[in-house]
Amino acid sequence: MDLLDNALPNAVSKRIAVLPGDGIGPEVCAEAVRVLKAVAERFGHRFRFDYQLMGACAIDATGTPLPDATLQACHAADAVLLGAIGDPKYDHNPAAKVRPEQGLLGLRKSLGLYANIRPVTAYEQLLEFSPLRADRIAGTDLLMFRELTGGVYFGEKGRRPDGTAYDNCTYHPAEIARIAHRAFRAAQGRRQKLTLVDKANVLETSRLWREVVQKIAPDYPDVAVEYLFVDNAAMQLILNPRQFDVLLTENMFGDILSDEASVIAGSLGLLPSASVGDRAALFEPIHGSYPQAKGKGIANPIAAILSAAMMLDHFDLPEEARAVRAAVDNALNEQVLTPELNASAAYTTEQVGSFIAYGVLDLQDCHLHRRNIAYGKSTII
Ligand code: IPM
Ligand code: MG
Repeated sequence: MDLLDNALPNAVSKRIAVLPGDGIGPEVCAEAVRVLKAVAERFGHRFRFDYQLMGACAIDATGTPLPDATLQACHAADAVLLGAIGDPKYDHNPAAKVRPEQGLLGLRKSLGLYANIRPVTAYEQLLEFSPLRADRIAGTDLLMFRELTGGVYFGEKGRRPDGTAYDNCTYHPAEIARIAHRAFRAAQGRRQKLTLVDKANVLETSRLWREVVQKIAPDYPDVAVEYLFVDNAAMQLILNPRQFDVLLTENMFGDILSDEASVIAGSLGLLPSASVGDRAALFEPIHGSYPQAKGKGIANPIAAILSAAMMLDHFDLPEEARAVRAAVDNALNEQVLTPELNASAAYTTEQVGSFIAYGVLDLQDCHLHRRNIAYGKSTII
């Protein structure tokens, strides 16, 4: 029988391309999928998961980091869930012609994922885990909009006969406007503040970013706009992160600042991201493939699970997304956490994922489930 035959009236059916990738990617992805299955069960939805290769695992299997079958599956899907990609054997070889990262960059470009959205929250329960002082970071709740398909990442690059290397940074006004509109709309739904981060005192592309943002700003009279040079922004982020609501910036600055901002949350293993375009969307934890932890069951699945929550928001399923976030919150409260956040009572990747999945199914009963998981009696999920 098709699951939809007895589904609830607002049940949805979605096809999700899953790219587990390398290192801890498959482990954290498995937990995000477990939680999505719990959501499907509780709310009567149907999610179909289409597993594909990308990254170093794809190079090993097919010789290319982004095989055609993967690209086709991603284009055909309603959303993509990505674990992590990367392998140290490529990091230390500047001469490598084929690299796992080319798969991710190629996928972003091909799917037109121009806006990368990274929320950074200082969780009350975890303030002590940040190397930054708790009184500085408490209450931080910011949203970073990083341009993802332009700038120096995608500009012309190469070598000249005299040995010089170059990477060009280019932006078209339309590339800036489309992400700026998204950032302004997000600010309207939050604390009505947008900070454009650039280097307009030096770079021509940054001056164009200011021009375009200044032209768009009057469309959003309720949003206060502030401009900050990237060097100052890097400092302000750790001096006084509470001052920020929505941050908007170009590709390379966003790459650097979002890793810096992750320190505020206490663990890289907590931060999700969404990469969206006009027709496609991809969700992935911001952490890398952490090859040293592969297969050890110590990777934190929360960033991947919160990425799945962002996917649910994208599917316009806010109640479902809230259920996942509430279950994560409960895991934080109950300290059902991986060793980097709870060394004394460390739970495995799978135990944290199962606890959260149980929480999605039935939040009230979590204490009972916690005991079951701790004693290895969990059989349902
Ligand atoms: C990220 C990563 C990627 C990037 C790498 C893996 C190419 O650092 O998603 O932030 O630089 O965009
Ligand atoms: Mg990065």
